[in-house]
Amino acid sequence: MKKSSVSPITVLFVVAAILISYYSDVSSAESNSDPTPAPWPHQFHSILFVNFTGSLSLIDLWYDWTNGRNFNIIQDQLGSSEIIQNPSFASVGELLYDLEWNNGTVFRYTLDDKKKCSSTLIDVGILRPNWLDGATYLGQQFIDGFHCNVWQKVDFIWYYEDIVTKRPVHWVFYTGRSIHVMTFEVGAVLEDAKWQAPVYCFDKKQVHDHPASDNDILEIGSKGILREFI
Ligand SMILES: *[C@@H]1O[C@H](CO)[C@@H](O)[C@H](O)[C@H]1NC(C)=O
Ligand SMILES: *[C@@H]1O[C@H](CO)[C@@H](O)[C@H](O)[C@H]1NC(C)=O
Repeated sequence: MKKSSVSPITVLFVVAAILISYYSDVSSAESNSDPTPAPWPHQFHSILFVNFTGSLSLIDLWYDWTNGRNFNIIQDQLGSSEIIQNPSFASVGELLYDLEWNNGTVFRYTLDDKKKCSSTLIDVGILRPNWLDGATYLGQQFIDGFHCNVWQKVDFIWYYEDIVTKRPVHWVFYTGRSIHVMTFEVGAVLEDAKWQAPVYCFDKKQVHDHPASDNDILEIGSKGILREFI
């Protein structure tokens, strides 16, 4: 029986090949192992504490991807920005409703005697649950007392998510608007009747249509924080 012989060179090649494939596996595993942000639940309710260069507000956020709608119910601290914009505004502390439909229609209104409503048509729908896909991982950081993973997306937003619970804790827009998530109720849905814009929103005289390229996108975003990203 002939003795099989393997040359030392062959052994070296095999070992080298194994090592190369091992290390390339490790390095690709490393780049794939960066944490990714949890997609948003298709329906949730959050209370958000907002600080925009010292102007404070609370936002009741009802995200409802399932029904293609998103609601920001905004309470400025003591109604202050309304007073600045319109000193004759008597009802201090009233709520501003920012109701966004996935077909691009946005209603912004108050529910008081003034019957103010603006309706806007923009080219994009509400944020998708996976809107954070492709964000760049920046590492871990403590924020608001929570140990978080941090991502940045296209210089627009810095996003902080609790490492253990995967809940959003905080995000900051490039404009400096800073959001602190106070509650996060997954699956909470606002009843249908509350999504009905008041009848004066359908008064043709108050309807303004804007393409998405318009500056009004930012104006919408100046209150409706989710739009600000787009
Ligand atoms: C709001 O943000 C400003 C910085 O823009 C900061 O000085 C201030 O302390 C913040 N206020 C609250 C209540 O977090
Ligand atoms: C979008 O949907 C809302 C709610 O059903 C509706 O009031 C609005 O007119 C729609 N807009 C368009 C452009 O179809």
